[in-house]
Amino acid sequence: MTAHKVPVIPGDGIGPEIIREGKKVLEAVGEVDGFDLNWIEYPFGADHYLATGELISENSLKELKKYKVVYLGALGDPRVQPGVLELGILLKFRFYMDEYVNLRPVKLYEGVKTPLANKGPSDIDFTVVRENTEDFYVGIGSRVKTAKSKQTLDLVREMYHLRFGIDLQSDAGEVAYQIGVITRKGAKRIIKYSFDYAKSHGRKKVTAVDKANVLTHMYGMWREVFQEVAKGYPGISTDMAFVDATCMWFVKNPEWFEVVVMPNLFGDILSDLGAMIQGGLGIAPGGNINPEGTSMFEPIHGSAPKYKGKNVVNPIATILAGGLLLDQLGLRSSAAKVEKAVQAVLKAGKVRTQDLGGKASTSQMGDAITKKIKDM
Ligand code: IPM
Ligand code: MN
Repeated sequence: MTAHKVPVIPGDGIGPEIIREGKKVLEAVGEVDGFDLNWIEYPFGADHYLATGELISENSLKELKKYKVVYLGALGDPRVQPGVLELGILLKFRFYMDEYVNLRPVKLYEGVKTPLANKGPSDIDFTVVRENTEDFYVGIGSRVKTAKSKQTLDLVREMYHLRFGIDLQSDAGEVAYQIGVITRKGAKRIIKYSFDYAKSHGRKKVTAVDKANVLTHMYGMWREVFQEVAKGYPGISTDMAFVDATCMWFVKNPEWFEVVVMPNLFGDILSDLGAMIQGGLGIAPGGNINPEGTSMFEPIHGSAPKYKGKNVVNPIATILAGGLLLDQLGLRSSAAKVEKAVQAVLKAGKVRTQDLGGKASTSQMGDAITKKIKDM
């Protein structure tokens, strides 16, 4: 029997309980399809940080880089200042592994309610391909009080004077700035990925999202690259939309979208909107993918500390992320089985967690999906 070694980071809050269900379901698929999953547990998260002061070490990252896929629960804990674990572990991991694709399918399953009136499963079925390494996530910026860097301060002063009529020299204000970066190489690889994804998944249209009407440098180049790459895919139609209008259309006409490629920050924001129209964060999975390296799969939602240990949250987002993980391992039909089982349980509607208006526990949902897989 083939064995796949998969590192697991259960993480904080509800992380361990959703990962427990994800593992249960994937193991069941392995039993049915004839492969073994050997989990290798890693302790990273709040407890580990508070006990040792370590977020995730260079050595661990190096070690994890040997694997093709990693399964992650969630990070974030009220005992630790916001951002420490998220930046120090999650973003660190994405950047270290150069996981430049953040794949976020938005699909309304039968039996799940969408807040959009008059829209059904045939209207809401698209994939957000979020760039995952650049844009406003590069962390370049500063807060300026005194003339540490005279050049920067002069620039900021001039801008303030022009825009707001404020003379920082005499008003002695504090200024914060943060810069977004798009590289041609970075734009090209994510846009190319989105077209290849469309091609391999029977999609006929790719929409690029930006704000090229205001952030002309960054997103002007993004658009240019999109148009260049599109030429190589004559069978796929294209569209370009501004991010504000895209927010409107996600709500008004979600059926227009098939594959939607976005820079990092817009992708972060719009994939939460996507999760809501597909029935909530309990359903929405994500994959942080480096097609040639190590990829990491996780639910889009966070660690929900207030539900920790209560066995009430919906594990479906994590289970579907597990399906994406199998897909990345090349086990495409096994991955499809995960989604089919989730789909069947949701459609039957007998087992529903509280977010879906029911009373089932986290483990009951995991059990129902596991049973479906064994019966399939
Ligand atoms: C996400 C999260 C992260 C992000 C945070 C926790 C750093 O919101 O996965 O969407 O902004 O990417
Ligand atoms: Mn987010």
